[in-house]
Amino acid sequence: MKEMDLHTAIELGSPYPYTLVVTLDKKGKPNVMGLSWWTFTSLQPPMIAISVGHGRYTHECLEDGKEFVICFPSAEQAKAAWLCGIKSGRKGDKFAAAGLTTSPAKAVNPPLIKGATVAYECKVVGQLECSDHTLYNGEVVAVHGSPERPKHLYSIHYSKLISIDCKGNLDMNIEYK
Ligand SMILES: Cc1cc2nc3c(=O)[nH]c(=O)nc-3n(C[C@H](O)[C@H](O)[C@H](O)COP(=O)(O)O)c2cc1C
Repeated sequence: MKEMDLHTAIELGSPYPYTLVVTLDKKGKPNVMGLSWWTFTSLQPPMIAISVGHGRYTHECLEDGKEFVICFPSAEQAKAAWLCGIKSGRKGDKFAAAGLTTSPAKAVNPPLIKGATVAYECKVVGQLECSDHTLYNGEVVAVHGSPERPKHLYSIHYSKLISIDCKGNLDMNIEYK
């Protein structure tokens, strides 16, 4: 091993599962952002934490609504999913721009993304300030999946998405800059 800078290490430790986080803004309009910094934090009850930058519109939405849906976009949604990671919903409707559609969730107000591989509905039960991000810990209150769409997305650093299915097969390689 040798000492290295943070960004080289982040690239070397890739890929990371890439997700889409759906929230509702103050007007009740859904917003969606790309997010790699998530983790399960508890199994009983199931909990998932997401780390959201203070400047994100999603941060504003979470401070207000305290609910989110974390979706694993399927390989077919790669282009749309990438757009959600580079554009802010503060300036327009990202669902429309990305061509993503929604269906109602079961137990929270933000909707699910149609065609995602897996979606977890979460209610925020705790949060921790981490300098420039807030870590929101959410209790999972409902779970959905599309077994017919097992290929989901992973990010290489913050410049590229690849797709791997749930059996570990690397299926495609999409690059966005
Ligand atoms: C591969 C990738 C991973 C990202 N992961 C995160 C993340 O974990 N947390 C975060 O706050 N932003 C992350 N972002 C950046 C946000 O998705 C981006 O700033 C987005 O425009 C925020 O949208 P919003 O303003 O509508 O909330 C990531 C972007 C990319 C491309």
